[in-house]
Amino acid sequence: MSIESIKKHPVPAGFEAALVTPGDYARLYAESISDPAGFWGREGRRLDWIQPYSRVKDTDFTLGQVSIKWFEDGILNASVNCIDRHLPRRATQTAIIFEPDDPNQPARHITYAELSDKVNRFANVLLSQGVMRGDRVVIYLPMIPEAAYAMLACARIGAIHSIVFAGFSPDALANRINDSGAKLVITADTAPRGGRKTALKSNTDAALLHCSDRVRCLVVKHTGDQTSWIEGRDVDVLKLMEEVSPDCPPRPMGAEDPLFILYTSGSTGKPKGVVHTTGGYLLYAAMTHQYVFDYKDGDVFWCTADVGWVTGHSYIVYGPLANGATTLMFEGVPTWPDAGRFWAVCEKHRVNQFYTAPTAIRALMGQGPEWVEKHDLSSLRVLGTVGEPINPEAWVWYDKHVGKGRCPIVDTWWQTETGGHMITSLPGAIETKPGSATLPFFGVKPVVLDPQSGVALDGDGVEGVLCIADSWPGQMRTVWGDHQRFMETYFQQYPGYYFTGDGCRRDEDGYYWITGRVDDVINVSGHRMGTAEVESALVAHEKVAEAAVVGYPHPLKGQGIYAYVTLMNGVEPSDGLRAELEKWVRTEIGPIAKPDLIQWAPGLPKTRSGKIMRRILRKIAEDDFAALGDISTLADPSVVDELIENRMNRH
Ligand code: WTA
Repeated sequence: MSIESIKKHPVPAGFEAALVTPGDYARLYAESISDPAGFWGREGRRLDWIQPYSRVKDTDFTLGQVSIKWFEDGILNASVNCIDRHLPRRATQTAIIFEPDDPNQPARHITYAELSDKVNRFANVLLSQGVMRGDRVVIYLPMIPEAAYAMLACARIGAIHSIVFAGFSPDALANRINDSGAKLVITADTAPRGGRKTALKSNTDAALLHCSDRVRCLVVKHTGDQTSWIEGRDVDVLKLMEEVSPDCPPRPMGAEDPLFILYTSGSTGKPKGVVHTTGGYLLYAAMTHQYVFDYKDGDVFWCTADVGWVTGHSYIVYGPLANGATTLMFEGVPTWPDAGRFWAVCEKHRVNQFYTAPTAIRALMGQGPEWVEKHDLSSLRVLGTVGEPINPEAWVWYDKHVGKGRCPIVDTWWQTETGGHMITSLPGAIETKPGSATLPFFGVKPVVLDPQSGVALDGDGVEGVLCIADSWPGQMRTVWGDHQRFMETYFQQYPGYYFTGDGCRRDEDGYYWITGRVDDVINVSGHRMGTAEVESALVAHEKVAEAAVVGYPHPLKGQGIYAYVTLMNGVEPSDGLRAELEKWVRTEIGPIAKPDLIQWAPGLPKTRSGKIMRRILRKIAEDDFAALGDISTLADPSVVDELIENRMNRH
């Protein structure tokens, strides 16, 4: 289906009273672009400030001096905005619904009063361990309420949290503890998921072997499973929480003080620590959460992401809680105990807004609509997707079987770096097209550039790379400890713009279609992986001489990981070795980085200067080698025939 043949879906009935109407969108968007300081100066008052700001926007994209500051002289505390300010009206309202992995265990409803008590106590525990303002705290927790308590407790005392996804390996955890210089890591004994358990504490023990002896370990005894215990280093956090005071005065923080670091993959080198600050990020997360999901008081909001990713930060914790919302945290997986679990949870908790990834939709689509039809989904009002382009078939299935044609679908394009939604539909205001993220959010100025010349392509019906022309409050401020890398990664290639790394088409209606990454980042089940990371894991194996990793289209995951591996002299390829390498990558990075296909490559296509020609490797992995283009610059063109001959992905 060509993009141009896809028709607009009108806004379903019942959204006349949406928070943003079509007229509002046009008017507010125009204002946000023509007068950003006026627009954001007003929106900034959504937050409670200890000291109001007088300056709104002070941003500069000029290469060599990139600097991004919003609300710079304002003073606030993020945990106060997510908790304290709601207490007069919402003390008994549910803040967090916790749905455990095992459907036979009771769900928990945590009120704002209880959230306040837990976060204050958790903050006092952190203080008792010597954590101070500006210190880094790594959080390696599953999807349990304590993850939200830990984040907000850090925010309360001005410590900077850095969450490491619980699916990452001990090595990946150690790298992040060391890069951030964390004083403390917070983990749990074990984490049940889909009926199986991950041994988080023992992973943490393994990671800490590679870290300074001074790093302490707070353990949430979640399942009560036996773990090893190092006296003096390991601390039982739940026990200590009972002993400390339920009052911890919030630390006044500057709007530009870091709130968190989140590591994400790039096209080169090791993952970088994306830094978000307090005022702009929180405002942007709150505002996008409210408008994009048309969130109204009393709604139950469910984002199925993990708190280990930015989606969980912005749309499980900070955005919803800043808005005084009820947010659902789900410990389990969509397909356990059966393929109806998501819908069972929607029915059980009367979920109003449901936000998930295309990969989950495709997986559930494959199980058949009967799993959806079993459940009463009449509470649903808005559906969302995030993480990767959604194919129109999955969109149409989601709309028909889950939304019953009554729920607008918001396809939200954004990134760890952007803090919140950038290009997205709005439920009552923007007509949708399956597969398109539609139009920019307030204050976002997308530009499509010619990839070679860097010239902006004006008008509609153009395709190129996606950049953003001016700053917005949720933008990342720097790479932790490496501002130079920040400037080089995002501002060097196309001077004067923030470069997203994505390709994009603006169609005849001015709608945006994200076509995927144009750099060496691949998107596996909505998770971002740097091909360089997988390569360096592979070459760390003693039998591997060289490796090149590319993405290829995968029916369920969006993209799969395809690895070309050259073995050391004298090492024979075998299925056993293939399994060994898969296991190796799992332990070096984590299960999400395991290659789907490994091809033994006696040689890799290289230019005479020794550069691997990835374009060719991508084509072969896609099983599309008819148009390989010019291979005459290769040092040894014959390796290409060999690779084609033994390709792994054949249609
Ligand atoms: C991709 C996740 C198409 C994109 C919030 C981006 C999408 C990367 C969409 C960021 C979408 C995310 N349509 N592509 N709606 N949402 N992406 O940092 O390639 O984990 O650059 O942030 O995911 O992934 P990240």
